[in-house]
Formats: sequence, structure tokens, C-alpha cells
Amino acid sequence: MADSLEKLYLNFQKELNQIKDLNSLQAFEVKYLGRKGELTKILRGLSELSIKERKTIGEKANELKAEMGGIVANKRSELENKNYKDLATAEKIDITVPAKRLVGHIHPISQIRMELEDLFKSMGFLVLDGPDLESDYYNFEALNIPEHHPARDMQDTFYIEGDRELVLRTHTSPVQVRAMQKYGAPLKAIVPGRVFRNEATDASHEHTFYQIEGLMIDKEISIANLVAVMKELLAGIFKHEVEVRLRPGYFPFVEPGFELDIKCLICRGKGCSVCKHTGWVELLPCGLVHPNVLKHGNIDPEKWSGFAFGLGLNRLVMMRYGIDDIRYFNSGDLRFLQQF
Ligand code: FA5
Repeated sequence: MADSLEKLYLNFQKELNQIKDLNSLQAFEVKYLGRKGELTKILRGLSELSIKERKTIGEKANELKAEMGGIVANKRSELENKNYKDLATAEKIDITVPAKRLVGHIHPISQIRMELEDLFKSMGFLVLDGPDLESDYYNFEALNIPEHHPARDMQDTFYIEGDRELVLRTHTSPVQVRAMQKYGAPLKAIVPGRVFRNEATDASHEHTFYQIEGLMIDKEISIANLVAVMKELLAGIFKHEVEVRLRPGYFPFVEPGFELDIKCLICRGKGCSVCKHTGWVELLPCGLVHPNVLKHGNIDPEKWSGFAFGLGLNRLVMMRYGIDDIRYFNSGDLRFLQQF
């Protein structure tokens, strides 16, 4: 048995010299010192020896076990140190290299919003803002959409849990009455902003999107004024002529109301998922401000009249750049954003 111990120790030393990494050392340790390892096997055989032999061999085996354990521990720290050194040399850090600069740029929706703001400012319009979290009164009631009016269903609404008086605004139109109350008549204003609808998304519908509201109130405002401003707007955006059509549209806050559609610039009118295969994209609902809305804004409908429009900004950007899916805008995908 003493011979076996000696042989074991010789093999242990020979093999140890071959070990070059921590994984092999782990396997090596298990092989010699593990519960089913070589040394344990020898120790199990002690019971077959005489008491005297058991004592001397047992002592020797335990000394050997401690020694081998120490040798493995030293080898482990040696290999770990080597690893750190290798890492340090591999990772040469040159602190003088300038940092990689990620320069951001303006989102395509913001770019067009800014262009439109400049265009309308040049025509004497104010640029106004309103809250995303809006009262039921301004979002619906003041716009001639009383409670239980079926027109509420036209805009799937996110209500605030526990407070039916607050909604995430479904359009920028609430700022119409806010502006009338604040500035009175005459008034020319646009309101760019984010709006929310509880709807299933597809290539042309998002739950969070942007609109620009337009409002002009003065004496004897007519549909001719409305059409003239709409034409100016489209010429400013597309820089070339686009085919448009005007059809009757129902919105309780305008009378008469229209839908201005443009020929789909993605498929050139042939039909695609963006225009729902109709060849036309609904872009710009508009109309003459309903007298009840003027009244909510403390403006006398006998003296003043006005037009209003609500431009869908995402769809406008899609038409200008030929983007075939509205969901890219909120995707945060840099491959998309870096193209603008
Ligand atoms: C309105 O929101 C009215 N407030 C517009 C208005 C203002 C009418 C003033 C008259 C006078 P509508 O729900 O149709 O209307 O939305 C206006 C535009 O927003 C649409 O033409 C479309 O371009 C865009 N839009 C509507 N729903 C979505 C949606 N889910 N995703 C992306 N764009 C949308």
C-alpha cells in the first residue's frame, strides 16, 4: 500500500506539470483528491490492513493528501494570476484615443413639425401647446360631443383608472376651446402635439401618434379661406403638386365638415396596405367651426366664424418619404431613424 501511495504521488507530480489552465486543474483535482478519486480509493483499502499498518499508512496518506491539496491550491493561484496578466496585456487601453461620438439628429416627425411651424408662423399663426392628459370637458364636451353621444365611439379613448373626468387626449382639438378662452377672437393658431387612441395597430394606425391642429377665427371666414390655407400647407410639405380630394366628413365640432385625402404616394394610387387598397390616404379632416364650439370658447358665433383642421402628422411624413409602415416611428430602430 505504501508503494501505491508513492506511485500515486509520482503520477500526480508528472501530470501536474502538464496542467496549463484552470479547467484542467479542476479535473485533475477531482481525479486525485475527489470523493471518488485515486487517493480516496487507497484510503478505503486501509480497513484491510492490520492496526499497526493502518496507523502508519493512514498517517502517511493523510499527510500526502494535505500536501497534494496545498500543491493544487498553489497551482490554482499561479494560473489565476497568469489569467489576469494575459487579460491586462490583451486589453491595451489607450486613454488618449478620442471617444466614439454618437451624434443624434432630429426625428423625421419633429423635422416636418418644425417646417410646418415655420410655414404657419410666416402666415401669422401662433404655435400653441396643450396637455396630453386632458379633461373630458375639453376633449369631448366643449367640442360639441356630450356624454353618451355616439361620436365618442369614433375615437377609442384611454380613460384614467378611477377618474372618468381625465383622458389621454384623443386629438389636438381640445386646444381649440382652450385657445379661444385664453386669446379670444380674432385668432390664428396651430397646435402640434401627441395624441393617443386605444386601437389595434396596423400599417397606418398607431396608438400614439402626432397631429397638428389648425384654427383660424375672424370675421366672415369661409370654405374658400380653408381651402387656400390647406393648399399652402400641402405645397409647403410636398414641394410638388399632389392630387387631393375633398369629401364630406362628420365631426360634431365642425359644420360643414370635410375629409381631405391625398392620392397615396406609396403606391401612386394603385392600392397598398397604407391606403387600405383604396389609393387614397385620409390626411386632413377639416371644416368650419361649429357655433356651439365658439360659444364654449366665449366667442359670439353671430359676429365671428372660423375654420379648423386636424392634420395627421405621422401619415404626412409617411407620404413625404414613402414609408410603408407607421410602426417604424415608435420602434426606436436606428436603421430606420438614421435614414433621415
Ligand atoms: C380628428 O382627430 C379630428 N380632431 C380632426 C379635426 C380637427 C376635424 C378639426 C375637423 C376639425 P380623425 O380622427 O380623423 O380626426 O384624425 C385626424 C387624422 O389623424 C387622420 O386623418 C389621420 O391622418 C390621423 N389619424 C387618426 N387616427 C390615427 C391612428 N390611429 N394612427 C395614425 N394616424 C391617425
